[in-house]
Amino acid sequence: MNKTAVITGVGQGLAFCLAKKHLEMGDEVYGLERDSIDQTRQLAKQYPDTFHLSDCDVCNTQQIKAALAPALAAGKQIDYLYSVAGMFEEEDRVGIADTDIDGGMKMFEVNALGGIRVVKEAAPLLGKGTVIVLVTSEAGSINNCRRPNMYLYDMSKAAANMSARVLSNEFYQQGVRVFAIHPGWMKTKLGGITAAESTTAIQPQESADGIWDIVNRAAEIPPTWEYMTYQGDLMPW
Ligand SMILES: NC(=O)c1ccc[n+]([C@@H]2O[C@H](COP(=O)([O-])OP(=O)(O)OC[C@H]3O[C@@H](n4cnc5c(N)ncnc54)[C@H](OP(=O)(O)O)[C@@H]3O)[C@@H](O)[C@H]2O)c1
Repeated sequence: MNKTAVITGVGQGLAFCLAKKHLEMGDEVYGLERDSIDQTRQLAKQYPDTFHLSDCDVCNTQQIKAALAPALAAGKQIDYLYSVAGMFEEEDRVGIADTDIDGGMKMFEVNALGGIRVVKEAAPLLGKGTVIVLVTSEAGSINNCRRPNMYLYDMSKAAANMSARVLSNEFYQQGVRVFAIHPGWMKTKLGGITAAESTTAIQPQESADGIWDIVNRAAEIPPTWEYMTYQGDLMPW
């Protein structure tokens, strides 16, 4: 049976790959992106009946409500909710003396709070079998953190990890699985020039394939496995 997916930040990178994969499988996709761009407009033309594309900033509750309104009207359960939208600013790669806390608040809003803003509005459509993926990062692992800088990105991703745990605590008994996933170091806009030139960074498609595998075997994954890499390896909080 065809499934329904909600995907944020769908314009490019990992989210775009996930959207394409679901559409190719015949699923219905509600794609949220800040401003429509060519590649998503093309995809919407290719899948006019199943790809519902909305301009939506994940910091804007009214835009989230509008993007999800057709799904709410249809009353169909959301099978997959991927919170992928995220941002990183190179200026954050500095020590405390140079960290621009006020300037970095947008990054915090997007990375830490964007996911729960969307889940909050989608909550009436979550149910038994729904899988929520919050794409966080290894940068959110307090245990693994060895960086002497990047305060705001790391802190925003640690907060997103915490939101995954609390959502899991709230929804697990209703049959909803919630995962915080590190997608790997990817050659995307966010990955920047260092990822683009690296021989070890991966293409976002590889990450999407790994996440696809995880969500499709969600029912077999032990309840304590919540924070994982895209390859399904457990991460320490
Ligand atoms: N790339 C990596 O190496 C890496 C590593 C660890 C974790 N991650 C995480 O993986 C996720 C996907 O990143 P990616 O590498 O695929 O990056 P990407 O290609 O740059 O995609 C990020 C997407 O998020 C969207 N976005 C940013 N702010 C938004 C907002 N306020 N509202 C709605 N959409 C917004 C961007 O839209 P615009 O085009 O409008 O900016 C873009 O479509 C992010 O959460 C990132 O933090 C990435």
